[in-house]
Amino acid sequence: MDQLLDQLARRVPQPWGDVLDAGTGASSWDWLLKQNCRSRTGITAEEPRAEALRRRPGMSSTDRVLVGLWQNPELLAGSQFDLILADYLLGACDRYAPHFQEEMLERLISRCRGWIFLIGLEPLPAPANPGQQILFEVAQLRDAVQLLLGNRPHREIPQAWVERHLTRLGARVAWSERYHNLYDEGWVERELASLELNLQLFEDGGLAQVLRRRCHALRRRAAEHLRKAASYSFDYLLGISVERPATTDQPQH
Ligand SMILES: C[S@@+](CC[C@H](N)C(=O)[O-])C[C@H]1O[C@@H](n2cnc3c(N)ncnc32)[C@H](O)[C@@H]1O
Repeated sequence: MDQLLDQLARRVPQPWGDVLDAGTGASSWDWLLKQNCRSRTGITAEEPRAEALRRRPGMSSTDRVLVGLWQNPELLAGSQFDLILADYLLGACDRYAPHFQEEMLERLISRCRGWIFLIGLEPLPAPANPGQQILFEVAQLRDAVQLLLGNRPHREIPQAWVERHLTRLGARVAWSERYHNLYDEGWVERELASLELNLQLFEDGGLAQVLRRRCHALRRRAAEHLRKAASYSFDYLLGISVERPATTDQPQH
């Protein structure tokens, strides 16, 4: 993942000024701690995640990780950042705020006075070969288990949708890149192992048992078709320029 973020770093010279990691997590926060910034602010909806990130090595006195929801209009209202990172944020949005993605883009733009770096996963297209078929079924089963537990799963947003809405909101997509994703038997195993942990939370033991059998069948099929990784869908990286007349020389928080 650092590889994708490093691609972004090459585009805008450092130091970066005041930086916001708008949907923070271990990978984007650790990476940001290694970059040259005046200050770093991380936002997450999850308190345990925030607590873990606050303990990461490399934090300085100008860095902070806050818990908040983007649907709250007060969140960082009045603040302006030189660079905003939205790393797989839109895909996770539905878990906390269904159909809020467009307004979330609006919020990010309103808090930006320079660049937004956005990384997203293109939704999986219809499978075109046996390897992709297995990957598709694993992703469907993972999401079905989340729904059965009463949670909303991630909902990935297509690149074309994001670009259309950014343009409508007056932001400029200065450049974009795509990276095709490779998935192998190891990825299937990791997804199924975490899915099986979730099955332990089911009240209906019979249903959990049926779904466990399905996991075993997917493992067998992955061993046959995904020894060699299969390419499926892509990550997109967007460099979005937000131009705003400078009102002050001081960073605002
Ligand atoms: C998939 S994780 C992002 C991955 C992260 N950049 C990393 O490196 O691991 C999504 C992050 O966005 C946050 N998030 C998603 N929707 C949100 C919302 N509506 N308001 C605030 N945070 C949100 C989640 O709490 C989480 O911290």
